[in-house]
Amino acid sequence: MNAKELRQKYLGFFKKYNHKEIKSAPLIPDNDPTVLFITAGMHPLVPYLLGQKHPLGKRLVNYQKCIRTGDIDEVGDDVHLTFFEMLGNWSLGDYFKTDAIEYSFEFLTSSDYLNISLEQLAFTVFAGDSDAPFDEESYNKWVSLGVSPDRIAKLGKSDNWWGPPGKTGPCGPDTEIFYWSGTEPPPEKFEPEDKRWVEIWNDVFMQYNKTLTGEFEPLSKPNVDTGMGVERVTAVLQGKSSVYDTELFQPLFAKLSQISDCENPGDTQSGRIIVEHLRSSTFILADGISPSSVDQGYVLRRLIRRAVREGRQLGIKEKFTSKIAEEVITEYSDVYPELQTNKTFILDELECEEIQFSRTLEKGIHEFNKVIESIPANLERKVISGRKAFYLYDTFGFPIELTIELARENGFEVDEAKFKAAFEKHRELSRKGAERKFRGGLADRSEETTRLHTATHLLHQALRQVLGNHVAQKGSNITTERLRFDFSHPVKLAGDEIQEVEKIVNEKISEDLQVTKEEMTVEEAKSQGAIGLFEERYGERVSVYTIGNFSKEICGGPHISNTQKLGSFKIKKEESSSRGIRRIKAVLK
Ligand code: ALA
Repeated sequence: MNAKELRQKYLGFFKKYNHKEIKSAPLIPDNDPTVLFITAGMHPLVPYLLGQKHPLGKRLVNYQKCIRTGDIDEVGDDVHLTFFEMLGNWSLGDYFKTDAIEYSFEFLTSSDYLNISLEQLAFTVFAGDSDAPFDEESYNKWVSLGVSPDRIAKLGKSDNWWGPPGKTGPCGPDTEIFYWSGTEPPPEKFEPEDKRWVEIWNDVFMQYNKTLTGEFEPLSKPNVDTGMGVERVTAVLQGKSSVYDTELFQPLFAKLSQISDCENPGDTQSGRIIVEHLRSSTFILADGISPSSVDQGYVLRRLIRRAVREGRQLGIKEKFTSKIAEEVITEYSDVYPELQTNKTFILDELECEEIQFSRTLEKGIHEFNKVIESIPANLERKVISGRKAFYLYDTFGFPIELTIELARENGFEVDEAKFKAAFEKHRELSRKGAERKFRGGLADRSEETTRLHTATHLLHQALRQVLGNHVAQKGSNITTERLRFDFSHPVKLAGDEIQEVEKIVNEKISEDLQVTKEEMTVEEAKSQGAIGLFEERYGERVSVYTIGNFSKEICGGPHISNTQKLGSFKIKKEESSSRGIRRIKAVLK
C-alpha cells in the first residue's frame, strides 16, 4: 500500500462512521503564540477540544501536515523527520474509549483496510498515577477484542499521556499501538524497549484541561484525538525498515543522485538530511514563511543551510535546493495544492537563501582560519576549544564534523567533549523554547487575549479602509500583552496612515458596538461580505463575528461582547514581516 492509498483508506473508513473531513491547516498556527508550528493534527482543533462547537459537527477526520524540530539532530536515521503527515480522527464530546478503540482495531485488522494480523500488533495503556487512575477501560477493551494480556504494557505518564501541545490546554491518557517490524516472528510477550516494535498509532483520551497552575481540570465532555504518522505506517506496511525507502522519498533521491556525485544518496546520512530538510523547507515556504533570523523563519533558515552544507559533503558545486523542491512540488501537489500555487515564491526564496549562505560559508572558513591562527604554533597539542567550535557551529552553521575535518588537515584537535556539553545545553534550551513561547494561544480564553482578538478584527477592517481592499490577513499572534497582525501590503505605512488606522479603531471602540456571532455556510459568509482566511480550513459551516456595521469576519473566536470593553488602542510598531507582508504590533490600554 502506498501513502496515497493509505490517506484515502483512512478518510474513507472514518467517513463510513459519519466523520466529516477537514482540510489540513497551514503549518503556521493561527492565533497561537505558544508554538511556532503545528505539531499534531489536534493542534488547530484546540478550541473545539475545549468545548467550542465545531461547524462540521462532533466527528472529524483528516490528514495534517506537521513540523517537529525537537529531534532535528536525529534526522538521517531510519525514522526521524522534521516534517511529517499525521492522519487523525476526532470525537468532540461524542464517542469515547470503547468506540475509538473499536475503530482503530477494525481499521488495522480488517481485510478491507490495513489487513494487519493481530499477531503483529502490541499495545500500551496508561498505568495510572496521582493525577489520573489506571486506564482499565482501554485495557479491558483491547482484551475483549482478542488481544493477549501479554501484548499490553501498562506504562506511566512519560509514555502514555499526551498533551497539551503548549503549556496549557487539553490532554489525557493515551493508548498506543505498535507494529512488529522484525524479520523473525514477533515474541509472545511485548517488551516496549525492543525497537523492532514500532509505534504506529496513538489514541488519546482527552479528559483534562491542564491549567496555568499545572492542575488537571476534568473536561465537561471528554474527547478523542488520534494520530497516525503517514510516513512511518507507509514504511511498515511495505515491509521497509526506513521511511526513506518508500515512494515518499525515492523520487527525491533519484533527483539528488543526478545532481551529486553520489549514486545512492538514500543510503547516506547527508543524502537523507538533504531531502528531508528540503521537503520540510518546501512545505514551510508554501505557507508563506521566508528565511529570517527569528521564529519560524529561523527554523526554515537552519533547515535550508543544513541541506546546503550537506550538499557540499556530497560534492555538489552548483545551486541545487530549488531542484529538489521542484521534485517535492511535483510529488505532493495533488494532495497539497498550495505547493503548486506558491511554486515561484518557494523556488525564489530557496535560491536567495542558498546564495546568501554560500557567502556565509566562506566567511565561516575565514573565521575558522582566524581561530587556528590565534592558537600558539609551538604547543605540543594544539586544541580548538569547545566554545570556539560551538561558535563556528552556532554562528556559521559549521557542523562539528566539518570543524574536526578542517582542524585535522591543519594539525589541530577539537575539544569535542566541551563542544558536546555546549551543544547539549543549547539543544535542551531550544527543545524547551523552540516550540513553546509565550503565554496566550488557542487554549487561552483569558480576558486579555479575548479583548485583543476583537481588537484585531477592528484593526483588520480599519487597515482595509485606509489602505484598500487588497489588505488580507497573513498571520495573527496574540499574547496576553499584545496583538501581532501580518497582512498583505506592498510598502511601509506612512505615519499619517498609522494614525488614521489607530483613530478609526478607537472611534469604533468608543461607539460601544455589539459583537455578535452567527454560523453560516462559507457561501453565505462570502455573500454577506465577510472577510477572513478560514474557508479552506473549516469546510462548509463557519462562525462569523460581526462588530456593529463595521466588521464582519470569519473566525473561530473567542471575542468579547461589546467594544466598550476594549479601552484604548495603540499601534506600537509597524515593520516588514516578509516580502509584500507588513506586520503591526499593537496594545490595548
Ligand atoms: N495528538 C496525538 C499525537 O500527536 C494523537 O500523538
